[in-house]
Amino acid sequence: RRVAILISGSGSNMVALVESMTGDHPARPCLVLADDPHAGGIAKARALGVPVAVVDRRDHAGDRAGFEAALLDTLEAAQPDIICLAGFMRILSPGFIRQWEGRMLNIHPSLLPKFRGLDTHARALAAGEAEHGCTVHLVTEDLDAGPVLGQARVPVLAEDTDATLAARVLAQEHRLYPAVLERFARGRCTGPG
Ligand code: GRF
Repeated sequence: RRVAILISGSGSNMVALVESMTGDHPARPCLVLADDPHAGGIAKARALGVPVAVVDRRDHAGDRAGFEAALLDTLEAAQPDIICLAGFMRILSPGFIRQWEGRMLNIHPSLLPKFRGLDTHARALAAGEAEHGCTVHLVTEDLDAGPVLGQARVPVLAEDTDATLAARVLAQEHRLYPAVLERFARGRCTGPG
């Protein structure tokens, strides 16, 4: 199976995914696609020997259709079977999602359905949550609301700040996403793992 990974930033989840696809893993990375030419993940992907493409969102400011058409053209060339959104910070249109529904995964830094959207760690702290975590889900038209494929939980500690909690969650993301992708690529993902 061919996996394309979409990133916007540091790409730490992308690195974890790429490094997991070895040996008898049924998938291999075919493309890392960044929407920002300055994304830190670009150099990491190149160092890992994965083909990289950039579709700069600034070239399509205010034109989501044009931006998504460029994404689709770039993806078309790479012929992925699965798309992994990994720190990808754009909201994709229903039309784009419909073309990939059932084959596009995302990782979200909360225990969905809690804390959809942004600033999840600060919100979990503010809510006094005793635990927090991350979720891998199929991408659907409803933001951060698709079928859950796996979750990982972490405790919230009294002395936590956004940063310490985010770091604890991110470490779990790097474990959860590769595990879910392998099951999904083997066609064994049904419900929350
Ligand atoms: C992280 O906060 C992660 O929770 C979310 O995107 C952010 C950046 O991830 N998925 P990455 O380092 O670019 O993978």
